[in-house]
Parts: sequence; C-alpha cells; structure tokens
Amino acid sequence: MVSFLVDNIGELVTNLPGTGEGGLLGIRRKAAVLVEEGDIAWIGPSRYAPAADRRIDAQGGAVLPGFVDSHAHLVFAGDRAAEFAARMAGEPYTGGGIRTTVAATRAADDDLLRDNVERLRSEALRQGTTTIEIKSGYGLTVADEARSLRIAAEFTPETTFLGAHVVPPEYANRADDYVGLVCGPMLRAARPHARWIDVFCEKGAFDADHARAILTVGKDAGLGVRVHANQLGPGEGVQLAVELEAASADHCTHLSRADVDALAGSRTVATLLPGAEFSTRSPYPDARRLLDAGATVALATDCNPGSSYTSSMPFCVALAVREMGMTPAEAVWAATAGGARALRRDDVGVIRPGARADLVLLDAPTHLHLAYRPGVPLVTKVLHNGAPQ
Ligand code: NIG
Ligand code: FE
Repeated sequence: MVSFLVDNIGELVTNLPGTGEGGLLGIRRKAAVLVEEGDIAWIGPSRYAPAADRRIDAQGGAVLPGFVDSHAHLVFAGDRAAEFAARMAGEPYTGGGIRTTVAATRAADDDLLRDNVERLRSEALRQGTTTIEIKSGYGLTVADEARSLRIAAEFTPETTFLGAHVVPPEYANRADDYVGLVCGPMLRAARPHARWIDVFCEKGAFDADHARAILTVGKDAGLGVRVHANQLGPGEGVQLAVELEAASADHCTHLSRADVDALAGSRTVATLLPGAEFSTRSPYPDARRLLDAGATVALATDCNPGSSYTSSMPFCVALAVREMGMTPAEAVWAATAGGARALRRDDVGVIRPGARADLVLLDAPTHLHLAYRPGVPLVTKVLHNGAPQ
C-alpha cells in the first residue's frame, strides 16, 4: 500500500489533550502526518517529516480528524419536502410523517435503498464524515428491518436496529403485540447485521416501559444500547439510557436538572442533533448546560428525510456554536472525538500514531472557520482509511 505524507499543515487538530499547544483539541502548528497501511504512523513537526511514497500538500491549512457522525437514518426511500414546507408554514413536527417514509421504504427494492444510502454516504464523505452510524427503522416488518440492516452493513460496521421507531399502522392500538414482535422475531432477524439497538422513547412512539423491555432484550442479545431521548418533550428516555449504561442518549433537547446530572455522572454521551431543531423550527438543546455539568457531548446529523435532511457535520458544528452555546473548539471536538465516544471507539476521532488515517483537509487556516464561515464548502480533501477520496 502507498504511504502518504500530509505536509505543510498550518493547524493540526489531534484531539490529544496535552499535545502541542494543549487545550481540548491538542493543536500542533506547522505539522506533518505520515500515513501507512491505512493508519497514522507518525505525527510531528514538518521539518522532521520522514519520507513517503507520495506527498499531500495541506497548503498551510487546518487538518482535522474525519468527522464521526454517530446518528443517521440513511436507509429509506422518498423524501418529505412537502412536510418540511408545511412546517415552515406553521405546522408542528410530531414524528407522524415517519409512517409516510415507512410506506415508501417497504415499497422500494433493495437496489433503490442501496443507491440512496450510497448517495448520502458519499455526500457525507465529501463533507468530511469518515465514520457514520446507520439505523434501520423505516421497515418495521421482520423482513424489512433485516434487509435495511443488511444494506446498512454494506457501508458501515456501526449499524443500529431501530425496529422500535414507531408502531406501524398494521399494529395500531396493539403496541404490546408490536413490542413482542420487536423483542422476538425481529430482533433475531436483525441481530446478525447490527451492532447497536435503539428505541424512539417519546410520547407518540414508545413509552419507557416498552423501551426498557426492548433495549434489555437487545442488550442481552449482545447489542450496545442507544436511545432517542427527550427530543419533543420531557420524558424518561435519558434516565433510561443512563440506567441501561447506553453508549449514547440522542437529542437531549428537553432535560431536567436530574437528567443533566444523570448524564454528567455516567459514561452515556449526550448526542445533540441540531439539524433536527433547525428543520423542525424547535428550540435547540442547551449544550452549555451539559458541558458545564461535566457531561460528554457529541454532535451528529440525524440525517433522515423527515426531521433533519442534512448530511453535513460542518453545518451541525456551525449551528452548535451559534445556537447551543458551544465554543468552536468544543463543537469540533464533539463532532469528532465526541462521536467516537458515542460509538465507544478509540481508533477514530483522534490523530495519533496507530489510529485510523481518517483526515479532513480544510481550505481555511484554523478549525474556527467551520463555524465562522457557515455553509461554505471548506473541506478540500478527505483521507479515509489512509486513501485519498
Ligand atoms: O431522530 N425522532 C425520531 N426519528 C427521527 C425522525 C424520523 C422522521 O421524521 O422520519 C429523528 O429525528
Ligand atoms: Fe434520529
């Protein structure tokens, strides 16, 4: 395999505390990174850089770890642009549109679903996302959930079984029966293709008792736990996530003091999804409150056709800084190292020897520009597993 030297880096964000200038991002100036066999082999000052087969000139710009998008719903068909337009004209978001996407997804063949995932995954990659989690949740039959996860697993090892997204129409008023299906045959069919299990724990979706039952059998079957929690209103989702030692509680928009304290006292990452508040015109989660309490915060896109149809981590970083009280450094950390924590990974979201060579090169002198220049395509080059994309 060809080795690469990424050289002439003006600002290298390592996410290694105590490195270089110290601080959260472990910034080094005038640096170079050697990439061999898909991994980072060396980092150091440009002037001491070892030889490599090829040189990539960062042109004095910033280089960051690839973004880790730890929350995305990419296996679906159709879109819901009309629902978005109605919301922008004053309709509230309730999650009811999920059933529209379920119908379109069930009617689609495998190739259509696969092409849609590929389109969104490459869109995300061009914007610097090198690790992405993909959920099922728009199939909601045994066969459709299994195939959603089979297709997702073609693109990422971070696959999540979300059979408990909503109760599908054929189980209307029979939520107990649907939960039985999810916990039994659906979980058995999903298990070979999934690493995680998730539940939308919310009014109108699944209550805490149902969510606990589903997550517990999933955990017993060897899946890691994540929870859609406290998105549309206060609820028990966050407390449940902490109780079950979930890797992540996602959304965290409506939190009580006890919720914040529970997250701060746990290993459960609070994954904030500002694209959802943007696209549903809702109040943003208070990242400042979580950070000040000592919770670990991640940022992710929640990419899906209903509540957040963006694949852009730079857009989420900009929103988090402008709307959620995060500093640019905190937001960049949350979109890289934070996402890695939310997926319990230590080989991504960081630039250190031995980590995966996932690098983002910016046409900007520092990471600050991700929030300072919102909407501008600053990502000029992406290395994924050591290979230029
Ligand atoms: O994370 N909250 C539940 N699920 C998605 C929305 C799905 C949809 O509206 O299609 C979310 O926001
Ligand atoms: Fe989601």
